[in-house]
Amino acid sequence: MSKAIDDMLQQEVEKRRTFAIISHPDAGKTTLTEKLLLFGGAIRLAGTVKARKASKHATSDWMEIEKQRGISVTSSVMQFDYNGHRVNILDTPGHQDFSEDTYRTLTAADSAVMLIDVAKGVEAQTIKLFQVCAKRGIPIFTFINKLDREGRSPFDLMEELEQVLGIRSVPMNWPIGTGRELCGVYDRMKNQVELFQGNDHSTIQVQKVEDYNDPVIREMAGDYLHDQLCQDLELLDVAGDQFDLEKVQKGELTPLFFGSAINNFGVQTFLENFLQLAPPPEPRRSTAGLIEPTNEKFSGYIFKIQANMNPAHRDRIAFMRIVSGKFQRGMTVKHVRVGKDIKLSQPQQFLAQDRDIVDEAYPGDIVGLFDPGIFRIGDSLSQGSEIVFDELPTFSPEIFSKVTVKNALKHKQYQKGIDQLTEEGTIQVFHTVSFDDTILGVVGQLQFEVFEYRMKGEYGVDVQLQRMPYQFARWIVDDQIDPSKFRINSTLVKDKKGNYVVLFENEYAMRTAMEKNPTAKFLETAP
Ligand code: G4P
Repeated sequence: MSKAIDDMLQQEVEKRRTFAIISHPDAGKTTLTEKLLLFGGAIRLAGTVKARKASKHATSDWMEIEKQRGISVTSSVMQFDYNGHRVNILDTPGHQDFSEDTYRTLTAADSAVMLIDVAKGVEAQTIKLFQVCAKRGIPIFTFINKLDREGRSPFDLMEELEQVLGIRSVPMNWPIGTGRELCGVYDRMKNQVELFQGNDHSTIQVQKVEDYNDPVIREMAGDYLHDQLCQDLELLDVAGDQFDLEKVQKGELTPLFFGSAINNFGVQTFLENFLQLAPPPEPRRSTAGLIEPTNEKFSGYIFKIQANMNPAHRDRIAFMRIVSGKFQRGMTVKHVRVGKDIKLSQPQQFLAQDRDIVDEAYPGDIVGLFDPGIFRIGDSLSQGSEIVFDELPTFSPEIFSKVTVKNALKHKQYQKGIDQLTEEGTIQVFHTVSFDDTILGVVGQLQFEVFEYRMKGEYGVDVQLQRMPYQFARWIVDDQIDPSKFRINSTLVKDKKGNYVVLFENEYAMRTAMEKNPTAKFLETAP
């Protein structure tokens, strides 16, 4: 590869930031995403963001279930340019019924933005998504939203981050007043105040100051709020964590920003700091060692498969995260698992309604590939060599149902449906050791509805789902498995690869089994 091409690849890699926003529904993810896109003048949108609130207008009507429930089942990608950066936002389903797809999407992100409602603090879905990010050790940036509303004290929220999520935080800015009294924020890094102006907070006045004691702030915000600000920041200076980029990059310290997405307040400051601090695409582990994004040979992996985005067709779209090299439309790559060369001729970059053919893309970008049924989640694609990227983790299901086919004559189609939907990652399938019953496991209830709907719609099979009382799945690694030991409030099953898994009804049953089987390992994900 010539030096010029080499440099170009390096530049393209360095300017990219690929991240996901993790939050609990209603924290303001849609609003924040919209504001970010406005700054960037989005170049590729997965339908308008607001559209995923189906009450407004339905973006992706590829499945009626989405319309019925008023939610978007699948996640997609938005891309925009800002200040010389190319930003990819991986969108994750925001509804409570999120699925394993949400988790898998996080594996394609290089960093995460954790969005928290100032009044509600850390909520259930945020905890789950945070844990997936924390496991990978990716940097997490926190935005405390809805500062224009009455909420919890910033110190209280910082403590909660530490207590509940186990992460320390370093405030990059600090509110001057809150709720109705909110008049602005103090930027601790740049030593400047940003003040809300007007009733609708539509204009923002930015004023450089010496430090937070500067009398200019007193003039602008009044004695009471300035005294409070000085008190808070003195305390932070003495007792708070120092900003430490290395810790941020390892995901041990989260930079904390305060703002109000709907008022577009603090969003730009957040975006600029984020782009500066968040990492560009990182190397990924593979059978050939670490693959650097600047490696001249193209490589990537499939992290998500989505069926029937266009109801008129039976096609699937496989979402590929580019790991290294330059992607070009029409290029031939090795599909490593099947050992065949394939031509990537219909790549799409943006992924809901108006598909947009992409000619070239770089590490950190996500490309949608037309999939006539040849891809599986975790498949590696590479140019020249047989690189296999680390397997994507399977996430422990939390809801289980026994499945049976209503019409025994349809058994063949039923099996085909189960196989394909497992491949796509819609469901996980287990078989009980005792009676060979089929048990499906999912992360969100909606996945069962999707399963039922698609089995009927695509495979012509009516299935019956019977909810099972289990809540936890643990993969068992033990030399001698004794099924009789897993009968009380639990059941022993095998996953599709033949690994032993125990499903437990409650934590007590799980703890008891662990105590009774001290030599066995109980893993949250498949070994
Ligand atoms: P989500 O995608 O995380 O589910 O949240 P979304 O952005 O839809 O925001 C949830 C609600 O919170 C919306 O109100 C939105 O307007 C509001 N919101 C977002 N950011 C702020 C903020 O900074 N301050 C205040 N006060 N509210 C905020 P809604 O009434 O549910 O919907 P809508 O009719 O306004 O769209």
